Amino acid sequence: MRFIRVDPISFDEDEIRTAAEIIRRGGLVAFPTETVYGLGADALNEKAVRKIFLAKGRPADNPLIVHVSDVDEIHRIAEPNRVALKLIDEFFPGPLTLVMKKKKVVPAATTAGLNTVAVRMPSHRVALKLIELSETPISAPSANRSGKPSPTRAEHVAEDFGDEVDIIIDAGKTEIGLESTVVDTTVYPLEILRPGAITKEMIEEFYEVRDVKKAKIARSPGMRYRHYSPSADVIVLVGDSFKEEMIELAERLEKSGKRPGIAAMKSSDISGFPVYDLGESLEDYAERLFDALRSLDRICDVIVVEGVEEKGIGAAIMNRLSKAGKIYRV
Ligand code: TXA
Ligand code: MG
Repeated sequence: MRFIRVDPISFDEDEIRTAAEIIRRGGLVAFPTETVYGLGADALNEKAVRKIFLAKGRPADNPLIVHVSDVDEIHRIAEPNRVALKLIDEFFPGPLTLVMKKKKVVPAATTAGLNTVAVRMPSHRVALKLIELSETPISAPSANRSGKPSPTRAEHVAEDFGDEVDIIIDAGKTEIGLESTVVDTTVYPLEILRPGAITKEMIEEFYEVRDVKKAKIARSPGMRYRHYSPSADVIVLVGDSFKEEMIELAERLEKSGKRPGIAAMKSSDISGFPVYDLGESLEDYAERLFDALRSLDRICDVIVVEGVEEKGIGAAIMNRLSKAGKIYRV
């Protein structure tokens, strides 16, 4: 596996060219986006797409997101309706994925046999340049092994994969830290299949959005599987006096022979346990969450995490935590 380090903003096109050639030849490239690192292959090459599923250990019935670098490319692979076109206009490029009717050029392996395709135009310059130089849309799931927290640093990708990946483009930490919002535009009211940094509130400025019932989640097959799980148990505490409760819980766990760790915002007053600071704002929290889970997982067997209010990006944070562990209101 090769590793190339680039500046996320002022890189040279030639630094990306080798990786683009690998995509064109049907190989696997791990690359940064503004959300998390992706594990990319030529979306229109069935054999290349199969390699993604193999490397990740991903069930074949879980479709991939197809990444494009311009609007024309969207029309090549999908049939956006009026609503999708408006959302593209408002939010692309950015951390939003739209499920639309698919065109025939997209192989069944990419969409797991569905007649829809999920499309996203990332805003990360390195990702856009890679897609452009590859001259093909790139299908990419998050570059973690199935079940592990998504990678927000190139080191996370290297941790999960060995030689299955041909090259990793390292552009440092990702800015947002949680995967894109997935919206189904083939139904109205629209349905958010996965919450993210483009919030329900932001989409509701334009269209009606319905909360997706658990049963419907089947439409986004990925949401059925266990996710974001470190090997350690994850206990999430939500409420008013959670800080004291977190420390008390950690103390109890330690007495029972466990090795607890704590992930909390503004955590400077917590001591006596391994602590990962989740920052001052919900944006800091989102950016750091997956690294916190991975880091504490190395030294702890139980991770006690501060929960947040399910508003704005808080909804996405709580969605990921609910998949990583158990949530308790205190
Ligand atoms: O931020 C992101 O979206 C990252 C970066 C790399 O772009 N990618 C990512 O991909 O998170 P992945 O494969 O980990 O998650 C894709 C989600 C899954 O829950 C999948 O089931 C859903 O999107 N999805 C993909 N195609 C779909 C489709 N046609 N209909 C419904 N859901 C779909
Ligand atoms: Mg994923």
